[in-house]
Amino acid sequence: MPKEPPVVDIHTHIYPPTYLSLLRSRKTVPYLLDLADKTLPPRLIILPSDDDPSLPPESRGRPIDVSYSSIEEKLKFMTNHHITTSVISLANPWLDFLPPEEGPKWATTINNELESLSTCNPGKIYAFATLPLSAPPQAIIQEISRLKTLPHIKGIILGTTGLGSGLDDPALNPIWSSLQSHSLLIFLHPHYGLPSSLYGPRAHEYGHVLPLSLGFPMETTIAFTRMWLSGVFDRYPGLKLLIAHSGGTIPFLAGRIDSCVQHERHFPEDQGTKTRGPIRSLDTVLKDNIYLDAVIYSGTGIRAAIEKVGVEKVLFGTDHPFFPPLEEGEKKWKSVFTNLDAVTEGQDGEGAGAGAGAGKILGGNAIELLGLEVG
Ligand code: URA
Ligand code: ZN
Repeated sequence: MPKEPPVVDIHTHIYPPTYLSLLRSRKTVPYLLDLADKTLPPRLIILPSDDDPSLPPESRGRPIDVSYSSIEEKLKFMTNHHITTSVISLANPWLDFLPPEEGPKWATTINNELESLSTCNPGKIYAFATLPLSAPPQAIIQEISRLKTLPHIKGIILGTTGLGSGLDDPALNPIWSSLQSHSLLIFLHPHYGLPSSLYGPRAHEYGHVLPLSLGFPMETTIAFTRMWLSGVFDRYPGLKLLIAHSGGTIPFLAGRIDSCVQHERHFPEDQGTKTRGPIRSLDTVLKDNIYLDAVIYSGTGIRAAIEKVGVEKVLFGTDHPFFPPLEEGEKKWKSVFTNLDAVTEGQDGEGAGAGAGAGKILGGNAIELLGLEVG
């Protein structure tokens, strides 16, 4: 029997036990709510709209079972879905909410924990680190430098708020510079969504559907576009950014974003290059700096991602442990198979993993980009 090609999951999260203890110690969002019935898992109150005292505790937020914090559960999930290697990352909202003086020690603890989970599972687990973004830039840079001593850390996961004012904030320049010089991949991931007023007075009837399906991708799209507009990729042309959920809506909206720049009188035309706005065009940045995950649940989304960044820069992910089956005890996750089928369909192949492009997306691209030893 020929050996199956490796499958690498680059979008897969964990809340290590120490992080859950931090959430359990809090009473404001984000926090962990233990239920009176100890046979039920605690609830993660993660969005402001979850913190609704008019709802019974067991209906608030999301249930957080052992799959959110246990590496053994992650490994079982990987076996069940033929995933060779996972690059795990702390799930949102990371350390964004901590007082400035507390961020660095939690970042160090959690990043060391991620490194040790990787060391204990050679070839199976690697990680993206988390940064203490509420701390002063010097402390953030110190943690970035320290990451180079942790050999299984292959990049960092980053939310969209940066130091508090978004990713076009000039105060982030030394952080971009440090990430560029340490060749750390930035995994851009949403958390905050859009203002909940946009979802209307009936939003509570739809659970998390509107924030997750639309709020998340628009948040990511806006964050990246602000980065590009502010010239981050002109100043740091070596940055590598992996954007969650196939880039939100960037592949679909890139033409419109570019056209709006071309027609914006506010941007003077550069006489030398005849360009408006950023020096490096959106298409150039997408081709040179941007990687997209394949967590988009449709062939249409995969085709758009491939068209914009190239088949070598689209990488398989699951978003585990989010989107579990609603029925108890189902070992095969529909969310995973939808994404596997989407990769196949996006490649116009047949059966999961068909076609050279599919093999790259499923594992080859991640192995090459991150220098992984898998197996
Ligand atoms: N996926 C994530 O990564 N985070 C969420 O909060 C929901 C889905
Ligand atoms: Zn995710």
